[in-house]
Amino acid sequence: MDIHSVVGLVELAYAFIDVTCKDTFERRICVERSVKGSETTEQVNVVRHKSNKLWIRQNSFSELSVMEFSTFTHDDYADGFISDKGDYRIIRDLGSGTFGTVYQTTKRRVIKEIVGMTRAQFQQEVMIQMKVYEAVPNSCPKIHDVGVLEDDYERPFIIVMEQFDNTAQKILQQNPAMIPDFLRQVARILQKLEPFEFNHRDFKSDNVMYKMEGDKVRFALIDFGFACITVGGKKYAGTTYFKKTAKCFRKSRDLAQMVYEVERYTPNIPENIRTFLRLLLTFDINGTKCEMFKGCPPHKIDEWLDTYTFLDNDAVENPNTTPEGMLRALDFFEEHGIEACKNGFVVHPAKEECVPKPSAEVVTPKDKPVTPVASKKCPEGKELNPATRRCIKKCPPPKVRNPKTRRCVKKLKT
Ligand SMILES: Nc1ncnc2c1ncn2[C@@H]1O[C@H](COP(=O)(O)OP(=O)(O)O)[C@@H](O)[C@H]1O
Ligand SMILES: [Mg+2]
Repeated sequence: MDIHSVVGLVELAYAFIDVTCKDTFERRICVERSVKGSETTEQVNVVRHKSNKLWIRQNSFSELSVMEFSTFTHDDYADGFISDKGDYRIIRDLGSGTFGTVYQTTKRRVIKEIVGMTRAQFQQEVMIQMKVYEAVPNSCPKIHDVGVLEDDYERPFIIVMEQFDNTAQKILQQNPAMIPDFLRQVARILQKLEPFEFNHRDFKSDNVMYKMEGDKVRFALIDFGFACITVGGKKYAGTTYFKKTAKCFRKSRDLAQMVYEVERYTPNIPENIRTFLRLLLTFDINGTKCEMFKGCPPHKIDEWLDTYTFLDNDAVENPNTTPEGMLRALDFFEEHGIEACKNGFVVHPAKEECVPKPSAEVVTPKDKPVTPVASKKCPEGKELNPATRRCIKKCPPPKVRNPKTRRCVKKLKT
């Protein structure tokens, strides 16, 4: 054997270089470096330690009386979240919302990462989603795991849940003729949740998801960060944001907000559907006619954010947008349409009488539907997370913030 073939053999062989490990709360992550040919490769091994779980007690929930928080770690080498119940590899970001980022992962799951919320608030959001799922099966994504990302400086909370195909907003933009079916499905869900005095309170078409099932589109609610539900006499509320002005539950609140949002922000709605939506948004406030799509003077509803305070006003009760009112109006609309009156009049689908036709003029939206967040100046040592508008601790030097993932990392990947 000459010297050249020996070198050749060595080049093909696997040569072990070293192994480095780091311990996180529950597990040890080791990276083995080896050489194959001229390439150095790294292999990540995760060694699970004895469980060191956080237990949250919620006594008034029967079967949910103990909620288990897993600790997650973020595997920097493979871009994944690791929990006891399975490793999730990130496929892509689905977008950043009010409180963090939502990732699509393997196993048809999504991971909602939440920063800047207290543990109590997070717990409320999770409990509400679990309770909604329990009360009306498949009305929201099933939760598979909840936890805290321990190896991240911000220590975000995490919800691992069932993945849906896309937002209702997306599919309604592609096919606005689907609006009546969409409203029927969400009204049915809300109707079944009425005994629990459930309000979503941030009800817009990007907080509803859909899944194709055969050739049927099934809608489901998400994002319970503002929601409110009463179970066994105990109230669960996602946020205290509306506490001063609002009752937990108003029968007509959520659908009024949704109809407003869909009517105003969905392009190319067929005219009869637009008229139908505008009729739903026409109702009396203390004997004065209110057309919510135009604003209802003296109430200011010029912009999306105004709907939150408007709909929390006790005087605002829209009989057309209670779940029952909506379902009745949809039945009528689908059976008879709205055209059976003389010129300039249409049938009000909830009142079932002829009323003047609302104008079809489309108002150009001034803003896009967003969840209200208070503006903030950050104290010393903290900085604003532009995605969440939360003050977060600055990264401890020498760590720097990755602007994409917003995690504190040793160095930015290039
Ligand atoms: N279960 C899910 N399946 C697929 N996409 C989801 C799911 N949950 C959330 N998303 C996507 O992430 C976005 C933000 O999630 P959301 O729960 O509304 O958070 P935020 O409180 O930040 O608004 C949604 O509008 C949707 O596009
Ligand atoms: Mg949302």
